Amino acid sequence: MAARGVGMLARLALCAQRSQVLRPTHRLLSCPGTVAADAKREEQSSRSVETGSEDRTPKKKFSEVQKERREQAQRTVLIHCPNKISEKKFLKYLSQHGPISHHFFYESFGLYAVVEFCQKESVTSLQNITRTPSMETEAAIPFKSRFFNLKMKNPSSQTSEKSSMPCSNHSPPSSKKLFELLCYAESIDDQLNTLLKEFQLTEEDIKLRYLTCSLIEDLAAAYFQDCTVRPFGSSVNSFGKLGCDLDMFLDLDEIGKFNTSKTSGNFLMEFQVKNVPSERIATQKILSVIGECLDHFGPSCVGVQKILNARCPLVRFSHQASGFQCDLTTNNRIALKSSELLYIYGALDSRVRALVFSIRCWARAHSLTSSIPGSWITNFSLTMMVIFFLQRRSPPILPTLDYLKTLADAEDKCIIEGHNCTFIRDLNRIKPSGNTETLESLLKEFFEYFGNFAFNKNSINIRQGREQNKPECSPLHIQNPFETSLNISKNVNQSQLQKFVDLARESAWILSQEDKDRPSPSSNQPWGLAMLLQPSVVSSVSLAKKKRKKPASERIKNLLESIKSHSPENDTNTNGKRTVSTQG
Ligand code: GTP
Ligand code: MG
Repeated sequence: MAARGVGMLARLALCAQRSQVLRPTHRLLSCPGTVAADAKREEQSSRSVETGSEDRTPKKKFSEVQKERREQAQRTVLIHCPNKISEKKFLKYLSQHGPISHHFFYESFGLYAVVEFCQKESVTSLQNITRTPSMETEAAIPFKSRFFNLKMKNPSSQTSEKSSMPCSNHSPPSSKKLFELLCYAESIDDQLNTLLKEFQLTEEDIKLRYLTCSLIEDLAAAYFQDCTVRPFGSSVNSFGKLGCDLDMFLDLDEIGKFNTSKTSGNFLMEFQVKNVPSERIATQKILSVIGECLDHFGPSCVGVQKILNARCPLVRFSHQASGFQCDLTTNNRIALKSSELLYIYGALDSRVRALVFSIRCWARAHSLTSSIPGSWITNFSLTMMVIFFLQRRSPPILPTLDYLKTLADAEDKCIIEGHNCTFIRDLNRIKPSGNTETLESLLKEFFEYFGNFAFNKNSINIRQGREQNKPECSPLHIQNPFETSLNISKNVNQSQLQKFVDLARESAWILSQEDKDRPSPSSNQPWGLAMLLQPSVVSSVSLAKKKRKKPASERIKNLLESIKSHSPENDTNTNGKRTVSTQG
């Protein structure tokens, strides 16, 4: 068991891998406004995570959240600070430019402050007293941004007064801590909620994500005045784990939008523009030039890669100061709509996010997902699988996309590139589910459901919420909810799918043994979710074969026997479950 514990720590380290950089310190000041309300909401939602109870306060539309956060980000600055500064003096100095509504510190190769002013003018005022550094050996490119470097005028006189910044830690728990938290939880439901609470994005992390987009928007605006850079994907769809990448969408559609109020008279004015043969070429050219711009002039933007021949062209780079790995795309409006749809699903029932986080962590712990592109299942596909599974419960926990479309009104209507992306956007108008299943039961059922799913003939489809015949022969078929002829998991090969199925079966088996075997908390033995995050027996089968060693414990031996007797060729369908087949 001890050896398994160590193994688990190594696995859990994978879960937390990309999450170590950001350690923000969060301090609220007295300036009233939406920020305090946000913080209160955050507090409430974390409470609802703890209790698993539903938060019945009205929820904001996705577009409202985006608008509010964007506006906050526009009056926010990022400051690289000396390691030891007096917080009081720092705030007093900045307050000369106007009242501050919120600020926090974090460490990422140095100390950084995120300072949100109450008014946008304060940022201009601060920029007006800021100088471009003069270099002795290198030349600085004079770019006036909202990312500053704070220097002490007279460091020696100030060091005597230095006070360490009171830094509270907002990074995910260490693998050891998570292991303890999970082992000491009261129930499996408690474990899933704990995992969600520990891994979900913090208020500061979300603010920093919007600020980073806003800083990139300033750069892109040098070419395309009035453009917008919006975050999408897991940064905003409520399924993001601390350390997840930052997906950005460069939105040029608002530029030169037809304004009917200004079109009186007999003439119509149009901009002179340069034409290119296709949308794709336009996208590639735009991203190419923005990529160059980020590379040459973007403070803190490093490792810029232009990946322009991908299905969805993008510019990938690291924003060093925030610690985010960024993917910038344009002409990708459907992905923004997908993020809105997932946001709605995540907000409809508190069990959804808890289950998705656990499945994502489980998949990561067993290397079913990877940050490197390849034949692995993606987090996006896993989320679709959880949503589909929750639509299949009786009564359903989540409604189908078609049902959400029937609830839409005229204002919700949305057609993108000929695809109907209409669904209700006001989630307060969607009736909550009457299903009362526990997270423990859902987790077990999820593994059973997909451990027995007829992947060889059926497709997963959240639009209709029912299994459908696969239109093509990819091993895993998950219909893109808006571009319905596309398969979002086309990249997954048969062996990755088989690994997923084997692990799902093994996990279902482990959970079914739980009631019999649960160790006492003081024994520090993994159980429930902690057990599922450990190295799998399925993978150790091949390892054991290779090393020609016997399994480490009686329990593993039993597990192996069980897996063997439940392998597809031996599937005797003893529990009245569907016969398993994953062959393409
Ligand atoms: P993580 O970054 O892994 O935390 O999750 P994510 O949801 O952000 O996934 P990812 O960064 O890979 O992609 C960002 C967004 O692009 C997703 O949320 C989807 O909206 C969209 N997306 C990703 N993969 C696909 C795909 O295969 N097809 C379509 N249509 N959209 C995709
Ligand atoms: Mg992402």
